[in-house]
Amino acid sequence: MKKRIYSGTQPTGIITIGNYLGAIKNWLLLQKDNDCIFSIVDLHALTIKQNPEEFKDKSLSFLAQYIACGLSPEKSILYVQSHVLEHTALCWLLNCMTYIGECNRMTQFKDKSKKHEDNINMGLMDYPVLMAADILLYKTDLVPIGIDQKQHLELARNLAERFNARYGDTFTVPDGFIPTVGAKIKSLQNPESKMSKSDSNENASVGILDTPDMILKKFKRAVTDSENKVCYDENRPGISNLINIYCGFTGCSREDVEKQFSDGGYGKFKLAVADAVISVLEPIQKEYAKIMNDKKYLLNVIKEGDEKARNIASKTLREVYDKMGIV
Ligand code: TRP
Repeated sequence: MKKRIYSGTQPTGIITIGNYLGAIKNWLLLQKDNDCIFSIVDLHALTIKQNPEEFKDKSLSFLAQYIACGLSPEKSILYVQSHVLEHTALCWLLNCMTYIGECNRMTQFKDKSKKHEDNINMGLMDYPVLMAADILLYKTDLVPIGIDQKQHLELARNLAERFNARYGDTFTVPDGFIPTVGAKIKSLQNPESKMSKSDSNENASVGILDTPDMILKKFKRAVTDSENKVCYDENRPGISNLINIYCGFTGCSREDVEKQFSDGGYGKFKLAVADAVISVLEPIQKEYAKIMNDKKYLLNVIKEGDEKARNIASKTLREVYDKMGIV
């Protein structure tokens, strides 16, 4: 049976090859035979200060990148969160049944509070409740997320159960789905930590829109160890990360790679990794340029996506109002 799948991405930073392997490739598989909704969660991004000039174009660019990667506006619903007002309405209703302690103890809230000491705003604390509203509005069965969002999904499940117990069966209790590959893609400069879409060190992350020259340069500079032997080993995170990237982009197994590159050092392998990444990204970048050149098409995709999303969301919200006794 078809499942309703929902995922959201904040339009901040860049879309990296880690996002591509960990999230996007999965979405492409899921959209084949499920009912998928993908949202650009711009309201979530505003919990951190954004520069309006830069922020303006980000949602469009992110959407175009997703479509260029193969997310289909025909098969799936692609839309912008802030365009569907039901999200903030349900968020408020859920706020009234979320305990402060539940938000207060979220690790991401604590981390972000430390990082943005001068801007610990209400939205930052409310972030997981808005995320719960995103998910529950669409009666989602399955939510593909990174491991860092597990606690937030747990809150969405609790709120669904709490609401259902108080007001009668309304929301689907969503399951999380944490793909294992993406979590494994690490920073090229510090292979102990995850490749981030907002790393301040340019060489740490490869963006899916990076030019072939940039990609080559970044892989050449990737931090490895001094053993110079292409061999997967958890104690050598740099080379292991490069092997994971190579496998993700070529479909090869680790054993294949080790055999194929057994007599070359890291230098030769780094070039091969760059090549593999470039050859997958090149057609995507061409498609992206085409879409960005056709703003009319892109705006139309968003308009239609918004409408489809609003259709579902408004039905759920009406049901919720009714259950809560709102006239
Ligand atoms: N918090 C998620 C993240 O940063 C983004 C997000 C917002 C989301 N709403 C969502 C993900 C709903 C899945 C479902 O990764």
